Amino acid sequence: MSDGLRARLTALLEPGERVILGITGCPGSGKSTLAEWVLRQAGAQTQVAWVPMDGYHLADSELDRLGLRGSKGAIDTFDAYGYLATLRRIRSERANIVYAPEFDREIEQPIAGGMAVTPADRLIVTEGNYLLDASPPWPDVRAELDEVWYCEVSDELRRERLVARHVRFGKTPDQARRWVDEVDEANAGRIVASRDRADLIVPTDTFDLLPSDPWRPGS
Ligand SMILES: Nc1ncnc2c1ncn2[C@@H]1O[C@H](COP(=O)(O)OP(=O)(O)O)[C@@H](O)[C@H]1O
Ligand SMILES: [Mg+2]
Repeated sequence: MSDGLRARLTALLEPGERVILGITGCPGSGKSTLAEWVLRQAGAQTQVAWVPMDGYHLADSELDRLGLRGSKGAIDTFDAYGYLATLRRIRSERANIVYAPEFDREIEQPIAGGMAVTPADRLIVTEGNYLLDASPPWPDVRAELDEVWYCEVSDELRRERLVARHVRFGKTPDQARRWVDEVDEANAGRIVASRDRADLIVPTDTFDLLPSDPWRPGS
């Protein structure tokens, strides 16, 4: 499987232009893990950057104002047009750095200027839940992406991984299971419905993409 992915990635990079690869799938499906693998693979031969959609989570203060704090992660809790504008800037602004916000999992809020795309970066990997959604402006987001890969894993394994991640970031197992049932799973149906628009389906339970040491920009 990973040989097939490697070949796909090589073909994507061959034309020599800047490439923006989208990775999508349900919460816990392995998007960030696949993104890290792609960045590590491609990073050995070209300059790469990572711009996750996570950075476009609205701040808690704005979610409170909108009454959406309890549904963080739903499609209307993101600055979708801001994300689109950044993707367009990554396409059109080749002489300067384009900064994107970073999502801090400890505080579960975005921080401005956390992710940098420098002029030399040739592969930009972006990752998020709604890249293939049919509602505006997501089709315009899709139009900025060269390919979109969809991570697929059994619901059971995906839920296990999600609960474990929430516990790692400070929730009790009970709180984690409740959050997964009430918040994460509410969004999964919508994401699954976008699956058929993907260019490639990547099974993330049948092979181990986890690197032995985490990839970091510049490493
Ligand atoms: N291919 C894989 N093999 C083993 N574990 C994985 C794999 N992909 C993801 N995981 C595990 O599942 C959890 C969720 O993966 P992550 O990449 O964070 O998902 P997403 O970004 O889609 O929410 C992570 O904690 C990771 O350790
Ligand atoms: Mg992720």
